[in-house]
Amino acid sequence: MEYFTLWNGVQMPALGFGTWTLRGQQGRECIRQALAVGYRLLDTARMYENEEAVGQAVKDSGLPRQEVFLTTKLWQPSNSYQKAKADIDRSLQALGTDYVDLLLLHEPYPESAGMYRAMEEACRAGKARAIGVSNFNEEEYNTLVKQCEIRPAVNQVESHIYYPRLALQKAMAAQGTRMQSWAPFTEGRRDLFHEPVLLEIGRAHRKSAAQVALRYLIQNGIAVIPKSVRRARMEENFAVFDFTLTGEELAQIGALQGPDSLFGWP
Ligand SMILES: NC(=O)c1ccc[n+]([C@@H]2O[C@H](COP(=O)([O-])OP(=O)(O)OC[C@H]3O[C@@H](n4cnc5c(N)ncnc54)[C@H](OP(=O)(O)O)[C@@H]3O)[C@@H](O)[C@H]2O)c1
Repeated sequence: MEYFTLWNGVQMPALGFGTWTLRGQQGRECIRQALAVGYRLLDTARMYENEEAVGQAVKDSGLPRQEVFLTTKLWQPSNSYQKAKADIDRSLQALGTDYVDLLLLHEPYPESAGMYRAMEEACRAGKARAIGVSNFNEEEYNTLVKQCEIRPAVNQVESHIYYPRLALQKAMAAQGTRMQSWAPFTEGRRDLFHEPVLLEIGRAHRKSAAQVALRYLIQNGIAVIPKSVRRARMEENFAVFDFTLTGEELAQIGALQGPDSLFGWP
């Protein structure tokens, strides 16, 4: 496993496990399997309605709490300072822990300032080791950075080979914020798994297109949180730390990118 050091010294795994849609007993079992495969970062959110399943899976794994990096996110129903403050405690209770490693604001909201203030307080109180945002574009990010007291450690955004957003990554890195990719496989919106450029580069390294796509992001300094319900794919997606893409290969993959989001985000 490789780690990225956040601006406040917290070590975040470069690769984690996404848990969107993994709910209930089946979800809990999938997440437990991901931990058994070796994943040490779990990405959840209040919106996913699976914080309990995530917390239970960590307990099922038998791993000490401090070995698992837990991320959760506050969203629109927590749309005031007071509601956010109460919902942070609800998340901790649902996860069965007294702190998360990373607490994110799920999207920009009209009430972002008050919500983020509650997150800063949670960070000072030791309820979150780091705080950050998600789905903030450069303008929204810059506005927040000017107003906040605790700089976002992470901005989790759509990022994949067709829309990696390296300019945003670079601009935020200059201010100490790490980009984390959601939908590194485009959630299936493009057939990345049969992309000829990835397949050809993969042949040279004995790796799949999926592995090359993840490695491209990691080598560009972007953390990734792919999701799969299948153990074989969890293992495949985890095995991305034993090869390195050359500068030429990175450039070939970089040529696949387009200017637009595949999800219609501004
Ligand atoms: N902050 C946000 O607003 C936001 C938005 C979206 C997602 N997220 C987070 O990001 C995580 C990842 O994104 P995502 O789950 O939306 O999409 P994703 O990871 O881009 O893609 C998941 C899809 O790829 C398939 N897949 C996974 N590994 C594969 C492989 N090696 N070969 C072929 N197919 C493979 C999965 O199918 P199987 O499951 O059948 O294997 C699933 O259909 C989420 O789970 C969530 O934690 C955050």
